[in-house]
Amino acid sequence: MKGFTLWFTGLSGSGKSTLAQSVEQELRRRGLKVEILDGDVVRTNLSKGLGFSKEDRDINIRRIGFVCNLLARNEVAAIAAAISPYRAIRDENRKLIGCFVEVYCECPIDVLAERDVKGLYKKALAGEIKGFTGVDDPYEPPENPEVVVHSDRETVAESTQKILRTLELMGYIPPDPEASRISAEEEDEIKKKLQKLGYLS
Ligand code: ADX
Repeated sequence: MKGFTLWFTGLSGSGKSTLAQSVEQELRRRGLKVEILDGDVVRTNLSKGLGFSKEDRDINIRRIGFVCNLLARNEVAAIAAAISPYRAIRDENRKLIGCFVEVYCECPIDVLAERDVKGLYKKALAGEIKGFTGVDDPYEPPENPEVVVHSDRETVAESTQKILRTLELMGYIPPDPEASRISAEEEDEIKKKLQKLGYLS
């Protein structure tokens, strides 16, 4: 089995960590070795001391990419879950790693601010946190992500299945007849996307 990197990107609260854990569970069930590099966790050790300036975010994302590359080349499924707001650094990691599957967790900011699980949007909107991604700091969405998930209108299970089916069709994991199926329309949509990106003929 070849390793790969599943790279989640999206605003704070868009579902990256939740989906990373859900995909991890399913990949382990299928016998794969998996590691998650979660922004919040990485920032307490590997990237301890870094802040949220563009420079610090770029260092953080390059570090995560570096570790993902080490893991992926040793047959591990590496899962990154960090905002990773800058397209250029994500693409740098894509080039470095090669076996790279980008998942864009798309969710309107008003939904995220309304949910505000960590209470950070409220603070950012009140000006108590400066440079908060999506409020007064940039987020550059990917132009050609392999998968787009929508936490405002899909369940965790639905998004997880979309991601797994993409990994199957890209040849990173073997198809699992026991896995819960996705709808014919979803299957069609995934195939069309992968054809457009040149992975499927
Ligand atoms: S990244 O930009 O370098 O990719 P990362 O994913 O590691 O960010 O960390 C984001 C998390 O840090 C958020 O989910 C939030 O909990 C916290 N955080 C604190 N300050 C900020 C900020 N200014 N912008 C975004 N997230 C912040």
